[in-house]
Amino acid sequence: MNATGTTVTAFAPASVGNVGVGFDALGHALDFAGDRVRLTVTEEPDIRLDAITGLTTDLPSDTTSNTALRALTAIQQECGVSAGARLTLEKGIPLGSGMGGSAASAAAVTAAAEAWGLALSDHERLRFALEGEMAASGALHADNVAPSLFGGLVLCEGEGYPHVTRIPVPTDVVCVFVHPDLEVYTRSARNMLSAQVSLSDHVSQTQAIAGFVAGCFRSDLDQIGRCLKDVIVEPQRAGLVPGFRRVQAAAMANGALGASLSGSGPSIFAWCETGRAAGIQACMAEAFHVEGVSCSAWVSAVNAAGARLED
Ligand code: HSE
Repeated sequence: MNATGTTVTAFAPASVGNVGVGFDALGHALDFAGDRVRLTVTEEPDIRLDAITGLTTDLPSDTTSNTALRALTAIQQECGVSAGARLTLEKGIPLGSGMGGSAASAAAVTAAAEAWGLALSDHERLRFALEGEMAASGALHADNVAPSLFGGLVLCEGEGYPHVTRIPVPTDVVCVFVHPDLEVYTRSARNMLSAQVSLSDHVSQTQAIAGFVAGCFRSDLDQIGRCLKDVIVEPQRAGLVPGFRRVQAAAMANGALGASLSGSGPSIFAWCETGRAAGIQACMAEAFHVEGVSCSAWVSAVNAAGARLED
């Protein structure tokens, strides 16, 4: 345990949930945005949010609804921490953007483990950070929080608190990421999904995720391209994002391996070879502009770093 008054800062990156092909199962980190938590150890046991700065400041500040505070409360209770904490939260991820807004809980867990002197295992860090995801979306899906914590492309499997496996990504593959100035809220974008899946769609999607992961391990871009698709969830959510099909088609026409919604949208990502990224970025942004939707666009490594401490 660090002394009262010790301050620790941690950053956790934004992420792409689902990666198109793996609903609630695959996610990867992004390298251009994230959330930062500054945590000061206090003698009194309360966990308090002092300030929120950055792109979003209108967030709940109670320990049930705030993702970071909820994660810290779970750590404090389960690990028997007698100290408390005061936090400032710097939001670099817009709300409802499909960029993994729960990064704040990954940053909070990283900061608290250091500040409170806890040797948490990866599985424990994920479990506590997922408490924050529960607050944000009402479900224990780890495909944002796990890449935000651990970096790179990860596979999450198992009920409740999943096991996480890092999947290698071919070195020449990058992610083009386009964020339109729109909001889609994960909780409602999950509630709208049908609970029924046809057998033929199940077969198609199962083949796709298996082929995608195999393609990543084999560095087989043709296989990755064949398999980066979603026949179950994407068709149900496509209507949430004006211009989605136009933007996706623009990416594919310019040589993307695949393109889909990032998480529940409205952001859209495409995987491609590095040399094609600038052209794909430009044409995806142009396609949104044709629809009258303004947007921001970036190119990110897929093997982006996960949560880390800062000076
Ligand atoms: N897997 C989640 C969903 C990610 O698509 O609902 C949300 O970012």
